[in-house]
Amino acid sequence: LREVGMLMGFKWGCATSAYQVEGGWNADGKGESDWDHFVHKHPEKIDDGSNGDVACDSYNRFREDVQLLKNMGANMYRFSLSWPRILPTGDPNNVNENGVQYYRDLIDELWANGIEPIVTIYHWDMPQVIADKYTWLDEEIVEKFVDYCRIVFERFGDKVNYYVTINEPWAIAAGGFDLGIFPPYKVGTVQKGKLGLSLDTWWNEPADPNSQEDIEAANRAMEFKLGIGAYPLLHGCYPPSMRERIDKNSAAEGRDTSRLPTFSDEWKNKIKGAYDFFGLNHYSSQLVTTPARAPKACPEIRWSIGKPGFDTDQDIFQYHDPTWPSTTTWWCKFVPWGFRKTLNYIKNEYGNPEVLVTENGCSGERSELQDTERTNFFRGYINDMLKAIAVDGCKVIGYSAWSLLDGWEWGAGNTVTFGIHHVDLEDPLKTRTPRDSAKFLGNIFKNNGFVKG
Ligand code: FCB
Repeated sequence: LREVGMLMGFKWGCATSAYQVEGGWNADGKGESDWDHFVHKHPEKIDDGSNGDVACDSYNRFREDVQLLKNMGANMYRFSLSWPRILPTGDPNNVNENGVQYYRDLIDELWANGIEPIVTIYHWDMPQVIADKYTWLDEEIVEKFVDYCRIVFERFGDKVNYYVTINEPWAIAAGGFDLGIFPPYKVGTVQKGKLGLSLDTWWNEPADPNSQEDIEAANRAMEFKLGIGAYPLLHGCYPPSMRERIDKNSAAEGRDTSRLPTFSDEWKNKIKGAYDFFGLNHYSSQLVTTPARAPKACPEIRWSIGKPGFDTDQDIFQYHDPTWPSTTTWWCKFVPWGFRKTLNYIKNEYGNPEVLVTENGCSGERSELQDTERTNFFRGYINDMLKAIAVDGCKVIGYSAWSLLDGWEWGAGNTVTFGIHHVDLEDPLKTRTPRDSAKFLGNIFKNNGFVKG
């Protein structure tokens, strides 16, 4: 690929998010975020009771992080801005200049080392002052988010070419509400960067590829998972199977209106086409059939527990093929071909947009430096991505591995580690050590693809 110039300008790098690595939770004028609030109030909700108060201390150690990327030959870094570090109370007239300076320094440091910043504007942490009043179910929050985006574009627009607006709206919706999210829309502020949002999906494979029922079930699973975010961006409405089933079930429940909202014409116009690139977070795959056809021995995978909700409406049964190799995270099986199929699905269903892989990776043991399993994971997934580009014609413009560091892993706290660099949490210096996977990816980054032999 490299030799025929197919990967010219390809972006190779790693990803993190503010709350997972920065620490400095109340440093230099940063406001409290909803995650700060939540973990301080409810440590019992986190597997090991830990929090991201200090995490990898990237707030103080970002120059080291940039060197890690540089050592790997990365030419991009996907990180997120902490909303309350920039707007402590959400009020755009009250900008925390220290916070702005921190990100400007990080961005300058990246460019100075030949690394392009890919900026996620919202990776799940918002000012608590806003969270006290609104959630993503309130339309008022759109205005707050736009205020924030405007400041981001004003302060960083001269230095950033790519923004991811929202990381994984599906995860935000399913985790927080089970249903309902407004896709972001284009804002009128002057900035030259490209906008996209990061949508997460596993690949849904029909359990029996010869069964029409399974094929339809897998299609529903894709539409309910990826389509909920992607389809409105393309067509201005929700995907056909969601519309049909949720409308029907809502009527059967005796409701006057469907549980699935309909966009007004104003919103349709705002949403449709409101992206320049398609950000994809992809980790793993699952088999899909109908509940009636479910195999007896396999445990069902449930991502959403609300009823009525996704589960009833989708009418699917999801499980893992027991022969798929496991990783230390139960939902993350090693299924590289699912990545290629996902990229082809996006190409075929959404008009072959430019895709930026904003997350891909797997967890491993915290103590291990020779992370063979993770290295194999990257080898397999990148290989299949390259096939999608070269053989299938998918327009993938870049790839960022999750994650540069052993970040704090939300509800799993510090019990799960996704880093290609080990971070010694006991050590006040939070010493970073490259694992084998970092060296492996470094070779790929430096050579713009696999090296022969
Ligand atoms: C994704 C999140 C990211 C990290 C990885 C493992 O869903 O975007 O923050 O937690 O999973």
